[in-house]
Amino acid sequence: MQRVGARPQKQSLFSLFEIPMSIPEAALQRAAVLREQLAEHNYRYYVLDEPSIPDAEYDRLFAELQQLEADYPELIGPDSPTQRVGGAPLSVFDEVQHTVPMLSLGNVFSEGELRDFDRRVREGLGHEQIRYCVEPKLDGLAISLRYEQGVLVRAATRGDGHSGEDVTANVRTITSLPLRLRGAHPAVLEVRGEVFMPRDGFEALNQRQREQGNKTFANPRNAAAGSLRQLDPRITATRPLRIYCYGVGVVEGAELPDSHYRILQSLRDWGLPVSPEIRVVEGVENCLAYYETIGQGRDSLPYDIDGVVYKVDSIPQQQELGFVSRAPRWAIAHKFPAQEELTVIEAVEWQVGRTGALTPVARLRPVAVGGVTVSNATLHNLDELRRKDVHIGDTAIVRRAGDVIPEVVGVLAERRPPDAPMPKLPTHCPICDADVLRAEGESVARCSGGLYCPAQRKEALKHFASRKAMDIDGLGDKLVEQLVEADLLHDPADIFSLDTQQVAGLERMGEKSAQNLIQAIERSKATTLPRFLFAMGIREVGEATAANLAQHFGSLEAIEAASEEALLAVDDVGPIVAKHIHGFFAQPHNREVIERLRAEGVKWPEVARPSAEQQPLLGQTFVLTGTLAMSRDEAKQALQALGAKVAGSVSKKTTVVVAGEAAGSKLTKAEQLGVEIWDEARLRQLLDEYS
Ligand code: IVH
Repeated sequence: MQRVGARPQKQSLFSLFEIPMSIPEAALQRAAVLREQLAEHNYRYYVLDEPSIPDAEYDRLFAELQQLEADYPELIGPDSPTQRVGGAPLSVFDEVQHTVPMLSLGNVFSEGELRDFDRRVREGLGHEQIRYCVEPKLDGLAISLRYEQGVLVRAATRGDGHSGEDVTANVRTITSLPLRLRGAHPAVLEVRGEVFMPRDGFEALNQRQREQGNKTFANPRNAAAGSLRQLDPRITATRPLRIYCYGVGVVEGAELPDSHYRILQSLRDWGLPVSPEIRVVEGVENCLAYYETIGQGRDSLPYDIDGVVYKVDSIPQQQELGFVSRAPRWAIAHKFPAQEELTVIEAVEWQVGRTGALTPVARLRPVAVGGVTVSNATLHNLDELRRKDVHIGDTAIVRRAGDVIPEVVGVLAERRPPDAPMPKLPTHCPICDADVLRAEGESVARCSGGLYCPAQRKEALKHFASRKAMDIDGLGDKLVEQLVEADLLHDPADIFSLDTQQVAGLERMGEKSAQNLIQAIERSKATTLPRFLFAMGIREVGEATAANLAQHFGSLEAIEAASEEALLAVDDVGPIVAKHIHGFFAQPHNREVIERLRAEGVKWPEVARPSAEQQPLLGQTFVLTGTLAMSRDEAKQALQALGAKVAGSVSKKTTVVVAGEAAGSKLTKAEQLGVEIWDEARLRQLLDEYS
């Protein structure tokens, strides 16, 4: 989670450190207390990972300080937490010389190479066994942070190791980084670490970029680099960057401990974020064990790592070993198998899902990614395929992280062979040959074969039998596939005419399990209307909508007979869902299947519908907008309990718009359409009337 960043504020014209006497003593003191509390909470949240107050309370303290500083701008100092985003956009970054060069690390990729490294270290020092500090290798960018008298004065990228770029204004926006160090610290302290973007923040950023029509980032590392190199710090402030510190450069005015691990502990004590995964171990065997453990936990970390780093822990030993060219002899990176690789897209094929949606799948020249051989990768949908500009024959970046389905991240257009064709959306379903249709404005294309398409049939039957639908114990995905392939199942009604002999004849099925299945099928016949509706697999009708439909109409016959208009009166049913439901029941084939299911004995009890008395608001549609004192959910539930429908947008059919504070476009629209507008008090009055 990322704390909300502060908004830019005008800098005071006064000197930042001299506080004029015009400020009341009480304000001065309160501002100091607030800053201290905010710094403490940030430290607990980001460094100790033990927050002691809810986010809302933090935000309240933050807002209070902002208000004080707005009232008395002279209170504003460079290390005030409200001053993270400031200054005008730059036209270019200044150059920064690194007094102590920022080195890189040697790499090893195998156990053997690591043992060689350890042997060189042992021989160099003349010791039997070495104590190592072991750390995750974060996949971001190296940064140098200079604190003078405890205040962050400069942040610079690594650049070529000797000089980098001044990115202070951007780094200041990283909320987890303290602008002032805690406790007794060196007069000058240059800290080194890695700036990175956690994966969830990366996904959210890409989603936002897509929505705004901006270019997306290929991976969290690129996103972190792109964000740090923004000339406008206000943009960087919107990016979820984090930092972990892993070393020091220039230090003046204090002696640091003679162990690397203890130096990192000091950094933590000064309020700097340090990875919680760092350990000290004895000997190379334990380095390997650490590599294994971190490697196994890699996918559950919230950020990307590309290996581990082993560092000789003793600083005197580090000094004794020294450097070779641009890397230390006392540290090495042990890389994991890459999660991204390059390979060639040999073909693009189309898979058909339950709703008939066609998903493009890239057939790849097999390649090892993240330790397994990958030969297929999803391309999600047609829009994604076009956006990534995929051509057949392209060299593609394929990513496989953890258990996630491998995906094509992007292609290298510069390596495209001449005449490489673009994959075409088939005009006919590759499984059943029915027409492929794509609704205007939709990114998904669908096979129109419905349950006649074996691919859709399989998926529809799996859904029908699943736990939250008809709950047929033992009728899992594999068995459904077998039954469809054996031509025993065409539609859901066929399930109920299966007999033990037919099932027992299937591969890996015995008499006993066949009997059990037939019994489970028999049992499932006594169901409920919401389950049955959900099992039908009508598009966009999930469990909740199925339950609302059942509640509203009381019987299947009433739903079958309902017009789109009538369906719209149901909670959570908008025009699109209403169309899907109506369209489903309009299909003679679907009605036929339902008839057969009932003939086979599928049944459910009537749904008791609340009386008109209990539902005085039946037929009325409310829209809630703006901030309400009671929660939106609370208001929604109270209205629904009285029979009203609560919709998300205002139309001519809206009965009442309840406008809370800071209501925006929905209120305007209600005014334009002449819809009745209430304030919260009026709503309360109504709810009280019926309570
Ligand atoms: S130490 C002299 N520790 O890896 C040692 N680097 O390949 C300097 N990195 O430029 C680096 N995690 O950007 C160190 N725990 C860690 C690291 C780490 C990531 C990066 C860093 C460095 C690169 C070297």
